[in-house]
Amino acid sequence: MSLIVKILVTGGSGLLGSKLVEELLSRNYEVIALYNRNPIPVDHEKLVKVRLDIVDKTSLEDLILKTRPNVIIHSAAYTDVDGCERNKTYAWRVNVEATRSIVRAARVVKSHLIYVSTDYVFNGEKGLYGENDTPNPVNYYGLTKLVGEELVRTSDLLYTIVRPSAIYGVGGSKKSFAEYVAEKLSRGEKIRALVDQYVSPTHNTLLAMAVAEIVEMRPMGVLHVAGERMNRYQFATKIAEALGLPVELVEKASIKDMKHWIAKRPRDSSLDTSKAKSLLKTKFYDTKLALELFKQEWLGAKNR
Ligand SMILES: NC(=O)c1ccc[n+]([C@@H]2O[C@H](COP(=O)([O-])OP(=O)(O)OC[C@H]3O[C@@H](n4cnc5c(N)ncnc54)[C@H](OP(=O)(O)O)[C@@H]3O)[C@@H](O)[C@H]2O)c1
Repeated sequence: MSLIVKILVTGGSGLLGSKLVEELLSRNYEVIALYNRNPIPVDHEKLVKVRLDIVDKTSLEDLILKTRPNVIIHSAAYTDVDGCERNKTYAWRVNVEATRSIVRAARVVKSHLIYVSTDYVFNGEKGLYGENDTPNPVNYYGLTKLVGEELVRTSDLLYTIVRPSAIYGVGGSKKSFAEYVAEKLSRGEKIRALVDQYVSPTHNTLLAMAVAEIVEMRPMGVLHVAGERMNRYQFATKIAEALGLPVELVEKASIKDMKHWIAKRPRDSSLDTSKAKSLLKTKFYDTKLALELFKQEWLGAKNR
């Protein structure tokens, strides 16, 4: 019997996936990382990169059946919240149908499936949601991610559903909110940030480390892995302070000003992370540590 642990990561070119690939390689795993439109900028003898549109069910299922990964981390998703509202058919294909294919193939080869879900499965009326609170999404993105969860939950797979919130950091092809804040403020430009939307900003590197721990422990069920509860304005000011940028350039805004939003957003989708805190060693909830890491990574990327 082979002792080599092979891990398939979908969304290897994303904000979280790019860090997952690095973290898993640093732990000596064999990694098969999928990407679609954006390449994965890492080369490693234990990394196999595969360009595959996960909407193509046959290729996706074939790949899993042929490579037989011990663990699948399904991190790919159509994450554009307004885009999902505009293009529901495509959102369903990526977030639901591809998850169905992964579940189907994972059952055959008996992989442990780690499904990366979201705080947006909740309606945001309560805040600090626990794993046992009832989801009730307010937008189509949240709905598709919840249906994905249900496909995983109702399968007979060994699975972990990980719910982060407002992922930020450096990596992937799109700019996270934190990078946008840092870039604008460092150019001396003002930014506006919401005082009435609460989230639990989750740093991608710390989240990747926590997921790597989950790969080792393989706990069953749902786990909330996220940072501390704060509103977007507080988050933006913390980024400014951490980077030594002018806090006064951060102006207060309100959800009612966001006229261009197509999808409704939960008002307070912050997460209670006590279960994951008691299980994992990674300090994924430590804002000071997360902002220090963000500072190093952002300055590193800027000077490259
Ligand atoms: N960002 C957040 O604030 C947040 C919050 C909570 C939960 N989440 C969840 O966390 C996970 C990771 O999010 P993220 O922010 O890291 O995502 P992201 O940066 O938007 O990246 C999305 C990833 O999915 C891949 N992907 C999308 N459509 C695909 C397709 N048709 N075929 C193959 N790959 C496809 C992308 O590949 P290419 O770029 O190569 O096309 C990319 O690697 C997602 O499941 C998301 O729902 C995100």
